[in-house]
Amino acid sequence: MANEEVNTGRRRFLTGTTAVVGAVGAGFAAVPFIKSWSPSARARFAGAPVSQDISALAEGAQMVINWRGQPIFIARRSKAMLDVMKSLDNLLADPQSAASDQPKYAQNPTRSIKPEISVLVGVCTHLGCAPEFLPEVKPEPFDPDWKGGYFCPCHKSRYDLAGRVMKAQPAPLNLPVPPYHFESDTMLVIGVDPKGAA
Ligand code: FES
Repeated sequence: MANEEVNTGRRRFLTGTTAVVGAVGAGFAAVPFIKSWSPSARARFAGAPVSQDISALAEGAQMVINWRGQPIFIARRSKAMLDVMKSLDNLLADPQSAASDQPKYAQNPTRSIKPEISVLVGVCTHLGCAPEFLPEVKPEPFDPDWKGGYFCPCHKSRYDLAGRVMKAQPAPLNLPVPPYHFESDTMLVIGVDPKGAA
């Protein structure tokens, strides 16, 4: 579990900085060896794909792992969450993700390969803070009509549970979706497209 952080309900997320520090903790022992590698070998290590078992990820929960020094948010959305997402288009700045950054296979209403599993780069598209995962439909201090999603505490940008930014926020774009695929039902690989994907 050194490579992940599981969050549920109202529990606050790690900030981007602590997520990265925690997530790479397992790699510290390797640093003395990496120093002796060539620059190209170090670059390959930094950009290597990351595998993550998501079998313990409960419905409505999220885990955060590190890939290329960035926090990656992996969440399991319930059917109710997916249903709410369908009703939000008129509140969103880029509901079809036309201007946002995701692989083609994730340019769909759920921005994902499997509707229930969301994979997002957890870096606010405004100035790079780590948005908080607030999945419940309930009034929040920043939005009495909150439908569940991500809230960036730095300048109050709001996103839905697909990382789609609401209209009139400081953040200009949806949260990016990294390349990823499923090696099996429970094993996710971040950093590599599915076989045959453009
Ligand atoms: S960094 Fe997220 S709103 Fe400014």
